[in-house]
Amino acid sequence: MAEKTLLVSKINNGTVIDHIPPGKSFKVLSILNIDSRISYTVTVAVHVMSRKGGFKDIVKIEDRFLQRDELDRISMVAPGATISIIKNYEIVEKFTVKIPEEIVGIVNCPNQNCISNSKEPVKARFIVRSQKPIVIQCFYCQKQLSDSEIVANL
Ligand code: CTP
Ligand code: ZN
Repeated sequence: MAEKTLLVSKINNGTVIDHIPPGKSFKVLSILNIDSRISYTVTVAVHVMSRKGGFKDIVKIEDRFLQRDELDRISMVAPGATISIIKNYEIVEKFTVKIPEEIVGIVNCPNQNCISNSKEPVKARFIVRSQKPIVIQCFYCQKQLSDSEIVANL
């Protein structure tokens, strides 16, 4: 059945983040530092019906391609999100974000006594204990973090 309306237009060049869990696009925008100062076009759809059932958010960013660390951060707030890289209106690459096995230099350890928070040049490092629901554990002090704590320490 032909769709009656187009919610958000296709983009010419840039990145589409689709299948974001409903409501999580705000976190994605914050990770990508997308705020009132941007000078490229971003379209956001919040809590729209997904053809695959349920609801989702979508973020489309023109003329911006994401870095590895940005994708890793997104994987932690929006598991299952798909990334489509668009060039000249065509999808040149499409993949689902994946939580890395080891999270290095992305999430800070909230334990102030952890060596990763000392003057030593030790980058925060976490091991993924569970993907769903996400639980990560500090490699140094064993502190475990779940969903909201991860977001607070991104
Ligand atoms: N898209 C876009 N601009 C383009 C091409 C694609 O904004 N020039 C967007 C689509 O609107 C969609 C995403 O990129 O949000 C992935 O496109 P596509 O794989 O064609 O969509 P679907 O088949 O609906 O994907 P899925 O099965 O992942 O829902
Ligand atoms: Zn720690």
